Amino acid sequence: MNRIFLASLGVAMAVLTGCDNANQSTTTTNTDTVLVKVVPATLPDTAAFRDTTSAQPTALYILKNGHAQAAVTNYGARLVSLIVPDKTGNPTDVVVGYDNINSYLHRPDTYFGAIVGRYGNRIAKGHFKLDGKEYTLPTNDGPNTLHGGTKGFDAGIWTGKQLSDRSVQLYYLSTDGEMGFPGNLQVKVTYTLTDSNTLRIDYEATTDKATVLNITNHSYFNLNGQGSGTINNHLLMINADGFTPVDSTLIPTGKIEPVAGTPFDFRTQTAIGARINDNNQQLKYGHGYDHNFVLNKSKDSLAIAAVAQGDKSGIVLMVRTDQPGVQFYGGNFMKGTNPIKFGKKDDYRSAFCLETQHYPDSPNEPSFPSTELKPGQTFRSTTTFSFSTK
Ligand code: BGC
Repeated sequence: MNRIFLASLGVAMAVLTGCDNANQSTTTTNTDTVLVKVVPATLPDTAAFRDTTSAQPTALYILKNGHAQAAVTNYGARLVSLIVPDKTGNPTDVVVGYDNINSYLHRPDTYFGAIVGRYGNRIAKGHFKLDGKEYTLPTNDGPNTLHGGTKGFDAGIWTGKQLSDRSVQLYYLSTDGEMGFPGNLQVKVTYTLTDSNTLRIDYEATTDKATVLNITNHSYFNLNGQGSGTINNHLLMINADGFTPVDSTLIPTGKIEPVAGTPFDFRTQTAIGARINDNNQQLKYGHGYDHNFVLNKSKDSLAIAAVAQGDKSGIVLMVRTDQPGVQFYGGNFMKGTNPIKFGKKDDYRSAFCLETQHYPDSPNEPSFPSTELKPGQTFRSTTTFSFSTK
């Protein structure tokens, strides 16, 4: 939906400089007034998310707080839109997504905004052992299993329940043996948009047989607005003294190495792209950043994991979590072939992910924190994405 703002020159110039993002379209100037035609980010049409051809109908749930808005679909429990004000107040959609359910159902998988599981990230060669028993999973990433296998949680239709205009809850039953994992796993994910522009994600899961679990949200962020070009000029801080180096198939070697003196040192805010072309074997293996950072321990139950800032929008994202790691993925495999919202494309490195999680391949690395869940236990975890401007 287009809106036309007739603004005084001063105000308009502020709008112009501040909204060099995906939402801005055209400007025309006359003598002392500027006609600024801005296309503010809007939520997708909910009707475009109704699909009744699948086993369960799909829908789009809307969360609003007066300043920010979010949209979530029950297909993969995906965050489709997250619209927050930039430094000039211009509504900016900071997550990559499609504007209709068909694209999610039929496009090559990108995991845009999805809840990934049962095991987010990689399990080496699709094998792990639990209580002395071998489990085999379908491989879908070279020799490895990525994000739960060929049909992970991202491709399941969850049962959605809108709790209020701020909150939606999604349920999924991952049956015993689904994608090779043991145990009927009941998963509940709640998205809440708070008054202070925080999107909070609460996870809960129980099982009837011992299993492994690593569940996260796979949103692709561009704080200048999705589809607005490179994220390499965003500033990033990751609260991690160490990371888990990988082999050429992105499986951790089992070591934790210090970030100090490497391009993985984001302990002070640094432009994402500042060192991306350094001659570094880990960057070569990842085709850029695609690594798990070992988060520094904190007394806070929700410790600061990362802070990112859009170089054009001034939008600041703070990520907090109770998880031990965060996968920082810099959009290295984005190809510009998928038509995302507002007529844009998912261009190379035009978004980044901060996937709060346990370390990749933990079921095969006894020295990593355990990802095992036993019957009678309840897995609970929280991650928050908070937005402000600078
Ligand atoms: C992985 C990347 C992968 C991306 C999309 C990230 O979590 O680490 O290697 O390309 O997800 O699947």
